[in-house]
Amino acid sequence: MKVKNICCIGAGYVGGPTMSVIAQKCPEIKVVVVDINQERIDAWNHEDLSQLPVYEPGLDRVVAEARGRNLFFSTDVNSAIEEADMVFISVNTPTKTYGEGKGMAADLKWVELCARQIAEASKSDKIVVEKSTLPVRTAQAVKDILHNTGNGLNFQILSNPEFLAEGTAIPDLEHPDRVLIGGDDTPEGREAIQALVDVYATWVPREKILTTNVWSSELSKLTANAFLAQRVSSINAISELCEATGADVEEVAKAIGTDSRIGSKFLKASVGFGGSCFQKDILNMVYICRNYQLNEVADYWEQVIKMNDHQKVRFAKKIIKNLYNTVSGKKIAFLGWAFKKDTNDTRESAAIYVADYLLSERANICVYDPKVPKEKVYTDLDYLNSRSSEENRKLVNVVNDPYEACKGAHAVAILTEWDEFKILNWEQIHDLMLKPANLFDGRNILNPSEMNRIGFRFNAIGKSDK
Ligand SMILES: NC(=O)c1ccc[n+]([C@@H]2O[C@H](COP(=O)([O-])OP(=O)(O)OC[C@H]3O[C@@H](n4cnc5c(N)ncnc54)[C@H](O)[C@@H]3O)[C@@H](O)[C@H]2O)c1
Repeated sequence: MKVKNICCIGAGYVGGPTMSVIAQKCPEIKVVVVDINQERIDAWNHEDLSQLPVYEPGLDRVVAEARGRNLFFSTDVNSAIEEADMVFISVNTPTKTYGEGKGMAADLKWVELCARQIAEASKSDKIVVEKSTLPVRTAQAVKDILHNTGNGLNFQILSNPEFLAEGTAIPDLEHPDRVLIGGDDTPEGREAIQALVDVYATWVPREKILTTNVWSSELSKLTANAFLAQRVSSINAISELCEATGADVEEVAKAIGTDSRIGSKFLKASVGFGGSCFQKDILNMVYICRNYQLNEVADYWEQVIKMNDHQKVRFAKKIIKNLYNTVSGKKIAFLGWAFKKDTNDTRESAAIYVADYLLSERANICVYDPKVPKEKVYTDLDYLNSRSSEENRKLVNVVNDPYEACKGAHAVAILTEWDEFKILNWEQIHDLMLKPANLFDGRNILNPSEMNRIGFRFNAIGKSDK
């Protein structure tokens, strides 16, 4: 079977870039990305490509090539489903905030709604592809809904988790390490798998397209995120030991990273990982383990999250300690709010939690981030419910210029590793600040001896200040 029409439900950080690249690489396939959020769809259709709702280097180029040719963004979900032979589900699957599994399990409300809508709008057989990250065995629920409510049509369910990293989504999609496709080992299942393999094989070498059963595919995505997050927490744990002993975490990371069994990637110590996926996927895995009474396995993975929380609090406490144990009424500049560089995504960003801790100590915070709008900073803080939104607006200022953010500050903290922070005029920033000028590098992007030479009281992660 040859796929001619694709519909993707969910025009977010995954659906938007993923489908843009499929449309760019496969001009003979019509790709319609749909979402219930009109504002988001309008932004995807915006003439000015700098207004796309997702910031990713290179995305504007891909959208410019395919949009209007074979790539379309729409809110007409039913028509797009009806027309498609393959429907991707790429909706959000956040951690549940209520009821059974609150704070741990994935909330599958949106996935279930999608399944019901696909069943209702379909008039012909379809291949349904889970692109969202889902708990292992979710495909069974999707299958159940489709088969029981779907007008007697035939639906094949595939799992095709997305491994892109925000900030490098376009190169990751254009040259993936692998593409994973899980499906049923039946003649119809194998035919559906082949149809999706053929789509990717347009640009991905065949040996990089892995096919498995559905459960392995679903669980592989959770496992990949758990392993990646675990590496960050491991090096962050060592960073604290480095600070206590006089070792340098970057030297340790380099020394162990040259061991080919360990590898050098994902060994960068920092203020802690963020993003919408790592925490939610590990919590979800922990929840699943507990459901199967695998308590030791659950405890093991839960520790990755605890270590990450500890690292964020430790960073905030270090700022307070160095400012003579009080930040009340003091201005602290935050350089960066996004959870990592080259994205405008702030979900679970370490900056939010460090800010919240300092605000509870009555600090005044001034934020500068090149891609995060002012309102987003306030919504992120309001979401925590730690104080009223009026108080957040009183204590936090958001500016468009890094020098303005640092002016008159007692301390500057780097929360995101944006490249532009490396080339700021740090002499000028030092002059603008109150003395002693404290600088906390939560991403280890600055040169310590250079910063000490300028006159900063410089503090990095995993480097002893003794
Ligand atoms: N962000 C990442 O880097 C990343 C990477 C790999 C996998 N994932 C997974 O991909 C999934 C999507 O993540 P995201 O970051 O794109 O989320 P997102 O919140 O950016 O986007 C999801 C979109 O789905 C839309 N939506 C929800 N229900 C809908 C419905 N019934 N009909 C139409 N639209 C609907 C929302 O309006 C939203 O725009 C999640 O499961 C996530 O875990 C994310």
